[in-house]
Amino acid sequence: MSADAMRIAVFAGDGIGPEVTAEAVRVLQALDLPGLELVEGDVGGAAYRKHGHPLPPETLEIARSCGAILFGAVGDFSLDHLERRLRPEQAVLGLRKELGLFANLRPATVFKGLEDLTTLRPEVAAKIDLLIVRELNGDVYFGEKGTRTLDDGRRQGWDMMSYAEDEVRRIAHTGFKAAMGRSKKLCSVDKANVLETSQLWRDVVIEVAREYPEVELSHMYVDNAAMQLVKNPGQFDVIVTGNLFGDILSDQASMCVGSIGLLASASLAEGTYGLYEPIHGSAPDIAGQGLANPMATILSAAMLLRHSFGLEDQAARIEAAVGKALAQGVRGGDLGGTDGTRAIGDAVLAAL
Ligand code: IPM
Ligand code: MG
Repeated sequence: MSADAMRIAVFAGDGIGPEVTAEAVRVLQALDLPGLELVEGDVGGAAYRKHGHPLPPETLEIARSCGAILFGAVGDFSLDHLERRLRPEQAVLGLRKELGLFANLRPATVFKGLEDLTTLRPEVAAKIDLLIVRELNGDVYFGEKGTRTLDDGRRQGWDMMSYAEDEVRRIAHTGFKAAMGRSKKLCSVDKANVLETSQLWRDVVIEVAREYPEVELSHMYVDNAAMQLVKNPGQFDVIVTGNLFGDILSDQASMCVGSIGLLASASLAEGTYGLYEPIHGSAPDIAGQGLANPMATILSAAMLLRHSFGLEDQAARIEAAVGKALAQGVRGGDLGGTDGTRAIGDAVLAAL
C-alpha cells in the first residue's frame, strides 16, 4: 500500500448488510478523500452460497491488502443447519481471529432528543454515555469445544473457557487508555466469585492498573453489572470485560439507549487496523425492503476514518451530519419513524 492510498475493504454480508453498507459507502465517497479505494468482498451466508465458505481465502486476502474493513452484518437462519465452521457467523469470528482484532469498542450514548426511545425511564437513560471494551480473541468463544456421549449414554456439550495473562493484559491496557481519554473511570466486569478464568482476569487487571494511577478502577461481577446497567447506567464510563460477558452486556447497553440502529462499533488490532460495523445484526425480517436504518453503519464509517486513518475532522463531519439529520426529524423504523434506507442516506449526505 502506498503512503497516500486509502484502501478500505467493504464486506456487506447478509440481510440488511448490503443496503446499509451502500449508504455508508455513498457518504465516504462524498467526502472526496484523496486516494480512496473501496474493495468489495464476500462474507457470511452470501459468501457461503458463492464460494462454499463464509470467509473464503479471497476475502481474507482483500482484508489483508486494506487498511481497514467496513462491515455490514452476517447471519442467515436458513443456514443454521450447517456444521458450525460453515455458518455465516464464522466470517466475523474468523476475521477477528485471523486479523488479531482483539479489542472491541462499543460505545452507547443517548442521542439528544431521542431519550424517549429507551425502555428505561427517560431520565435514567439520558445519563448513558459509556464505552464497553470487549475482548474479542479469547474466552469460551475460541476454546476447545465439542459434544460427547457420557458413559451413562447422556449427550454432553462442552466449551472451554480460558484467558492467558497476556490476553488479559493487552485488553486491560486498551481499557485503561480509553478511560484516560474519557472520565478516568474504569469498571472491570468478571465473575471472579465462581470462575478461575475471572480470578486471573481480575488479578491481571489490578497489576496493569499500577501503570495508570490516575484511573479509578472498580470491579463488578457480571450479574450485578447487568442489573446496574438498567438500574443506574449513568454510573458507568468505560467497562472492560471478556468476550462472552461483553457480548451480552453490549447488547443490553444498546437497548438501554433504545436505538440499536444508531450504534457503531470498532474491532481493533494492535496498531491502526480495524473492522468497523453497526452493532445491529442482519435483520432478515426487513432485508431487501429498503427499511433498515443505515445510520449505525454510517457512524461506523466515521469511526473507521478516525481510528484507522487518523481523519478526525472527516469523522466528526460525518457524526455531525447524522446528528443534524436526526435533529431535522429523520427517523428510521427502528426509531419509530417511516424514513427508508435511501432517504436516510440522502438526508445525511445533504447535511454533510
Ligand atoms: C456480536 C455478535 C457475534 C458475537 C456473533 C455474530 C458471532 O453477537 O458481534 O456481538 O457473538 O460476537
Ligand atoms: Mg452480540
